Amino acid sequence: MISELLVPDNMTGDETNSGNPYGTLDSNPYSTSVEVFADESVLKEDWQPEQLPEREPELEEIRNALAPATRGVNAHNLFLYGKTGQGKTVAIDHEIELLQEYADDSDDLNLSVIKTSANNQTTSYQLCAHLIKEIRGGTKKPSGIDQQSMFDLLYQEIGSLEDTVIIVIDEIDAIGSNDELLYELPRARKNGHIEDQWVSVIGISNNLQFRDNLSPKVKDSLYDSEIEFAPYNANQLTTILERRAERAFVDGVLDGEVIPLCSAFAAQDEGSARQAIRLLYKAGELALNRDDEAVDEQHVREARDILERKRIEEGMRSLTTQDQFALLSVVALEIDEETPARTRQVFQKYKSIVDRLDGNQLVERRVRDHLQSLGMQGFLLAETRNTGIQGGSHYRFELKTDLEATLDILGEDGRIDDVVEDLVDIASAKRLM
Ligand SMILES: Nc1ncnc2c1ncn2[C@@H]1O[C@H](COP(=O)(O)OP(=O)(O)OP(=O)(O)O)[C@@H](O)[C@H]1O
Ligand SMILES: [Mg+2]
Repeated sequence: MISELLVPDNMTGDETNSGNPYGTLDSNPYSTSVEVFADESVLKEDWQPEQLPEREPELEEIRNALAPATRGVNAHNLFLYGKTGQGKTVAIDHEIELLQEYADDSDDLNLSVIKTSANNQTTSYQLCAHLIKEIRGGTKKPSGIDQQSMFDLLYQEIGSLEDTVIIVIDEIDAIGSNDELLYELPRARKNGHIEDQWVSVIGISNNLQFRDNLSPKVKDSLYDSEIEFAPYNANQLTTILERRAERAFVDGVLDGEVIPLCSAFAAQDEGSARQAIRLLYKAGELALNRDDEAVDEQHVREARDILERKRIEEGMRSLTTQDQFALLSVVALEIDEETPARTRQVFQKYKSIVDRLDGNQLVERRVRDHLQSLGMQGFLLAETRNTGIQGGSHYRFELKTDLEATLDILGEDGRIDDVVEDLVDIASAKRLM
């Protein structure tokens, strides 16, 4: 009877009341017999660390670039780049917060910071409208005017801000090659569009191609300082994790090898602090869910498999059929133990796979584009090799994701499962998985 399951408010504190179908709280499925986390929130994505000692040189560079603002002129424009999970966003947040504190305590600096992510803004026009919305604090973006009027509207809004304006644009690569705003904004005062404010722009990107492809005039305008966030090494990831673990976990619950292993796995991949923290968190959750008294190496290994699988699954959902063919070709070469393989070789494999599946066959150059895009998405490792005398270079591809998990997920697609099944048989016979 449902009414028996509903415990009245005044009885919720009574753990032994007969209305509780589990009798005591101890037998409630939500109660656990082990304690793993002391403060789980520390392992969440949005938790802000107070210290970033591994990034002290980068923080100092940021500080030097922002410091002119405290001296009554505009801060340098900045461009921060580096792979995902390298502390770019958290480093800027940290320094902006310190600068804001300085401004709050001092009469010399009147500061407005506009911090935004370009995320879905795929043109200068959209980004500009988005910035106007952020400054106004409203929910509606202006629209229906031409680009110059939109820029003028932004200058007008900036005119309502404090004397020193810093505009932080995270994930700036979203705007692609449509980058006029990045050229115009840092020069707005020089060009007389803004009179009273000093404006500087901080761009952040994890897309290295975007940086390389920026037009020279944008580079010239935006790049007073450029700061690279190189991938963390295993030692740095270890100290990052140690600081988190100290707060997040109950004393003594982590076996000695857990943090070094999480760090090593993340360092082998992209050196991402985000990935390392997720791994540690997942390992802790696995231990907790199984009522294990300690988090050990086995939990970490399992956590890695789970997260890796999730990453592949998420990425694969967005693959086009041609991406899948290209990926399958590299997987097949991996099983033939012929990777890293050149484009030509992958293309031969691709042709036989497309033939068998009766698919639409692309030319070699287009297949190479798909391979490169798979590289960008983290499925393949794509390295360039110089080919000596002629001075040319060529690509060599190999599978980056776990072979078994990749085949498993590709096999779920009814269009290609026959091919996948055969590959699984060969890989199993060769004991590759
Ligand atoms: N040196 C560090 N000390 C402590 N935590 C760190 C450090 N570096 C990064 N982190 C943490 O790692 C996670 C990822 O960092 P962040 O979001 O700054 O990366 P990012 O470089 O901006 O990545 P993306 O390019 O994907 O946006 C965050 O939870 C952040 O708090
Ligand atoms: Mg970021």
